[in-house]
Amino acid sequence: MTTILLTGGTGYIGSHTAVELIAAGYEVVIADDLSNSSKNVVDRIAQISGKKPSFYEIDVADKDDLRKVFSSHHIDAVIHFAGFKSVSESVREPLKYYRNNLDATLSLLEVMKAYGCEKIIFSSSATVYGVSVDSHKFNEEDETGNCSNPYGRTKSMIEDILSDVSKADEGFTSILLRYFNPVGAHESGLIGEEPNGIPNNLMPFITQVAAGILPKLKVFGSDYDTPDGTCIRDYIHVVDLARGHVAALEYAFVHTGCGIFNLGTGKGTSVLEMIHAFEEANGLRIPYEIAERRAGDVPFCVADPSKANDILGWKADKDIVDMCRDSWRWQQNCRNESIK
Ligand code: UD1
Repeated sequence: MTTILLTGGTGYIGSHTAVELIAAGYEVVIADDLSNSSKNVVDRIAQISGKKPSFYEIDVADKDDLRKVFSSHHIDAVIHFAGFKSVSESVREPLKYYRNNLDATLSLLEVMKAYGCEKIIFSSSATVYGVSVDSHKFNEEDETGNCSNPYGRTKSMIEDILSDVSKADEGFTSILLRYFNPVGAHESGLIGEEPNGIPNNLMPFITQVAAGILPKLKVFGSDYDTPDGTCIRDYIHVVDLARGHVAALEYAFVHTGCGIFNLGTGKGTSVLEMIHAFEEANGLRIPYEIAERRAGDVPFCVADPSKANDILGWKADKDIVDMCRDSWRWQQNCRNESIK
């Protein structure tokens, strides 16, 4: 059976990808230090899939621990999710982000090389593109590297590292997946996003306001050059995103070199549109107020997903209503102690 190692596999996107990989017939091994996730996610993946992944509580930067994983399993490919991901924290503590995100990747690549594993899929981000001019939908040929924060720069640097490794080693495959804005949760309500403390991202903030945990949403800026003045993003359901990894993996098994793909829907939604869609999908009201712009926000960030559609044969199927409904179901289950 083909075995895939998921670093950071108990996290938000990793756990949904584990479920889709098991459904597609892959053997899943997870390595995660649980710094931003919990071990019971492994049981929930098993509950959904009927199959429990192997789990190693390790720091991926620790090569001795990683070698134990590669010695215990024949790893055919790696999907590398492990990394710190808070933009604001990365601005406050840049060294923590450079050390952690780069170290984990370098250790992983060295151990993969030692064990002859030559396929890696990397969790990159649309943040590598920087600012869009005239509502241009980003495509993979657009310039990258002009990031506004250390978190984004680690993504961009890791993209460069993987591209160099692919050039140096003919048999090596790296696939860089540039995620737009993942939201939603598995429809079982058993796995989803579990932000630490007060959320930074829009959807977890909305669901916590809906649940009465937070009093009011602040809309960061209503004077942008967009139809309703609020920022536009390409929100993608996490299950669609997870399926994009399965498609990328199948591509990686028959190609070498470095492949880059946007994973987005191609549809833009403003902050106000998202609030109203959430209210309508769930029959709730979200109290909000217009606040100052947030530093570093760009007015428009939407994917041109045609490359992934054409070459990977993958397309996002779920719409904003699915995203709002599934996010809310997960939030409600989070408050249920039997799930936590
Ligand atoms: C953010 C990160 C991005 C990262 C992504 C991970 C920044 C500047 N960018 O993207 O690098 O890859 O998360 O998911 O942090 N908003 C509000 N009120 C809120 C929260 C958000 O109005 O309380 C607005 C934001 O201003 C933005 C939109 O909602 O216009 C989406 O914000 P968010 O969910 O944080 O995602 P991004 O900023 O697109």
